[in-house]
Amino acid sequence: MKKFLAILLLYINNATSNYCYWNTGCPYKYLSTETAYNSVRGDIRDSVIKLTGCEPVSIWGIYRHGKRKPSTFFSDKMKAALPIKNLIVDSYKKGHSSLCAQDVENLQNWEYNSKFFDGKPDVTEEGRKEMIGLGKRLKEAFPELLHDLPKGSYTFRSAKGIWIEKSIDSFVSNLSNQKLVIEAAKTGMDVMSPYATCGFYQNKVQHNPDIYAESEKYLRSSEFLATKDRIQRRSGIELSLTEENITALYDLCRYTWSAVDCKISPWCALFTKDDLEVLEYAQDLRHYYRNSYGTAVNEVFGKVPLGDLFTSFENVSKGGGKKIVAYVTHATMLDQIYTTLGLFKDSKPLTGAHRDRDRKFRTSKISVFSANLVAVLNRCVKKGSEEYNVVFYLNEEPIRSICEEGVCSWEDFDTRLRPFVNATIDFCGETTEHY
Ligand SMILES: *[C@@H]1O[C@H](CO)[C@@H](O)[C@H](O)[C@H]1NC(C)=O
Ligand SMILES: *[C@@H]1O[C@H](CO)[C@@H](O)[C@H](O)[C@H]1NC(C)=O
Ligand SMILES: *[C@@H]1O[C@H](CO)[C@@H](O)[C@H](O)[C@H]1NC(C)=O
Ligand SMILES: *[C@@H]1O[C@H](CO)[C@@H](O)[C@H](O)[C@H]1NC(C)=O
Repeated sequence: MKKFLAILLLYINNATSNYCYWNTGCPYKYLSTETAYNSVRGDIRDSVIKLTGCEPVSIWGIYRHGKRKPSTFFSDKMKAALPIKNLIVDSYKKGHSSLCAQDVENLQNWEYNSKFFDGKPDVTEEGRKEMIGLGKRLKEAFPELLHDLPKGSYTFRSAKGIWIEKSIDSFVSNLSNQKLVIEAAKTGMDVMSPYATCGFYQNKVQHNPDIYAESEKYLRSSEFLATKDRIQRRSGIELSLTEENITALYDLCRYTWSAVDCKISPWCALFTKDDLEVLEYAQDLRHYYRNSYGTAVNEVFGKVPLGDLFTSFENVSKGGGKKIVAYVTHATMLDQIYTTLGLFKDSKPLTGAHRDRDRKFRTSKISVFSANLVAVLNRCVKKGSEEYNVVFYLNEEPIRSICEEGVCSWEDFDTRLRPFVNATIDFCGETTEHY
């Protein structure tokens, strides 16, 4: 009898402590580079630093494209993983899965949208909305500066790629009531993506499997293996899930979730918050070594757009220049710029042997869809003479770590960025086009 009671209690306890996904709100929104902008952004209208005696005279910004559809490579893997859905439903019916009934039902009712998985590169509806919102909020935060944008007072250009070009179209669409002209994407080297046409980088870094060694090492760590085991047991399926399958399921979760209205994806029910943190770190390691501090050359590429930023503001301070410059490009470029500026740098390199939960380098915060680095040049009149300062914003929040309280004096700005003006990437050798 006593034993029976104990078992009964255990059973009840188990049932009530079971984690369900469907009723936990948006439990963990940090999905590495597939994180929605809405999950991490600030709001430039609230956060803009207004300085007495100063007025904003120029804005320079570099943006990652909005949420895109998965490429053929990833969508094929996701499509291959779709039968896992029925395996999970069957295993649940046999009592082998510890998923919650509602989560299984939601997964069963999940509708496949063939258009989304056709591999054709495009920005998603959510991505378009994110980009429209960015332009609209910028207009509202800087009404006087952006009120009138005659030809020649602005530069809008994106890197090549249909999803990137559509992203800048959306960004510009609600930035002004005037008709603005977007420059055509360049086919050769551009300041917003110098690595993309650099043969050296393409061969030695981007397409070099050794770059992913630390991430691979992490996939063999006990922490990762325990996560994999948890996912396997939760699904209750007999098919032994490979790393590739887990990645495909993670992608299904990330790509079919929408943060604009917090529309969660039933695929995410396969993962707990702990699992998602582990999967996130495996991704961080990939980007850390491919785009950032893990490989020395990344710091060089970031100098190119930052040199452009410097000249752009210097031109304004000399009486010329543009009111607004906006470039839309890839996450790689943003990561490289952070690296050049020394932002989000951990005191120890990230490795597969140890996950620092408090690390600064978090792709889920800095390389999300529509991630952006914006610099604002202010002209101030002090004691009758003019001076300039620069405020940097990341995802619509001031970057306070860059200069004192986030405001860089012109001297600070000059000291840091002028050296990048004539940065060369002459080590690139033969260039290969890569979008
Ligand atoms: C699981 O991954 C393996 C490769 O590791 C792949 O061959 C197989 O098609 C995948 N299965 C599913 C259902 O995705
Ligand atoms: C953008 O502007 C158009 C036309 O002015 C308007 O119809 C639309 O509602 C605006 N969109 C947003 C998101 O503000
Ligand atoms: C700065 O001004 C010069 C002279 O007008 C122009 O050639 C150059 O393209 C400008 N550079 C930037 C980054 O705006
Ligand atoms: C960059 O190169 C130009 C042309 O050679 C030169 O006039 C300028 O002084 C250089 N600027 C810097 C900051 O080195």
